[in-house]
Amino acid sequence: MPYALQVPHAGGPDVFERVEVDRPVPGPGQLLVRVAAAGVNFIETYQRSGVYQVSYPLVPGSEGAGTVEEVGPDVTRFSVGDRVATAEGSGSYADFMVLDADKALRVPDGVSDEVAGAIPLQGMTAHYLINNSYRVQPGDTVLTYAGAGGVGQLLIQLLKLRGATVFTTTSTPDKAELARAAGADHVLAYDEVPDRVRELTDGRGVEVVYDGIGKDTFEGSLDALRTRGTLVLFGGASGQVPPFDLQQLNAHGSLTVTRPKLADFLLDAEERTWRSSELFGLVADGTLNVAIGERFALEDAGAAHRALESRATTGKVILVPGGTTDRG
Ligand SMILES: NC(=O)c1ccc[n+]([C@@H]2O[C@H](COP(=O)([O-])OP(=O)(O)OC[C@H]3O[C@@H](n4cnc5c(N)ncnc54)[C@H](OP(=O)(O)O)[C@@H]3O)[C@@H](O)[C@H]2O)c1
Repeated sequence: MPYALQVPHAGGPDVFERVEVDRPVPGPGQLLVRVAAAGVNFIETYQRSGVYQVSYPLVPGSEGAGTVEEVGPDVTRFSVGDRVATAEGSGSYADFMVLDADKALRVPDGVSDEVAGAIPLQGMTAHYLINNSYRVQPGDTVLTYAGAGGVGQLLIQLLKLRGATVFTTTSTPDKAELARAAGADHVLAYDEVPDRVRELTDGRGVEVVYDGIGKDTFEGSLDALRTRGTLVLFGGASGQVPPFDLQQLNAHGSLTVTRPKLADFLLDAEERTWRSSELFGLVADGTLNVAIGERFALEDAGAAHRALESRATTGKVILVPGGTTDRG
C-alpha cells in the first residue's frame, strides 16, 4: 500500500508518522504523480514546528518530481508516462501526489528525476530574487549568506553568470570550499559582516543583500548596504526578524527593504515557464550545477528536518520514496 509521512500536530522533527494511504484519484485538471524525489525546504520546518499556521494532520512537501501515472478529466497537456516536477504541489512527502496540471513543469531529457525534484523551489527562488526583487546588473556587488546552502549555491552561480561580484558567509571551512566552488568571490565568517564587506568595497557597501537568515543577520545586512541599497529579506533560518522601526531605512541611507515569497513570483503560466525553462536549460547544458548534498529515505523525513535545522546540510536535501538514506 502507498504511504505518506504525516505531521499529526505541531512538534519537533520526531513528530512525523508514517501512514498508509489509499492511492489518490486525480480530479478534473489534475495529475497523479508517482514521486521519485521530494525536495525538502525550510518552509516545511516552519510548518511542522508551528511557526507558520497550517492545519494538521499535514503531509508536507510542495516540491517534487516523478512520473505521471494517471491523468484526470480535462487534462490536455500531459499524458501517462510524462516526467514532471513542481514547486507548487502539496503532499510530496509521499509515494504519490495529486498535482494541478497547470502547476506541473515538464522535465526535459538530460535532467534526472532527482535533480528535477531538487531544483524547482530553490531554483525559481534564486531566479526571482536576481531578476525581480532586485534586478542584478553586471558589475553589481552582492552579499548573500549561507553560500553552501541550497538556495545559496544556486544563487551564487546565477549571480556570477550575471557578472556580479559575490560576497557570502559560511559557518565552516568545508562549507567555505563549496561556496568558492560555486563561484563566490569573497567567503567570510558571519562576524566579518559588515566590516569586511565595507573594506572590500572601498567603504561603499554592496548594492543588494539577499538575506535568508533573518533574525541573526538583519542588522548586519542593513550596515553592509551602500546608500540607496536594497535588502531582500527572503527567509528566517535563524528566526524571523522582529518588528522594526522604518526610520532605520532613512538612517542607513534611504534603503529599500522587501520581504518576498515565491508564490507571488509564479503568478501565471508565462512566469512559471520563463523561470523553469531557463533553469532546466542551464542544468541540461551543464552550466548550472545542482548540488544534492543529502538524500534521505522518505521515512527519514524527521532526520532530514533535524539536519537542515541544525546547519548540518549542504546544497539540496531530498527525500527518496523507496530509497535509502545517504548523507553525502
Ligand atoms: N521567500 C522565498 O521565496 C524562499 C524560498 C525558498 C527558501 N527561502 C528561505 O531561504 C533560506 C535558505 O533556505 P534553504 O532551503 O536553501 O536552506 P539552506 O541555506 O540549505 O540551509 C540553511 C543554512 O542557513 C545557515 N544558517 C545560519 N544561521 C542558521 C541557524 N540559526 N539555523 C539554521 N541555519 C542557519 C546555515 O548555513 P551555514 O552553516 O553556512 O551558516 C544553514 O545550512 C531559508 O530561510 C528559507 O526559508 C525563502
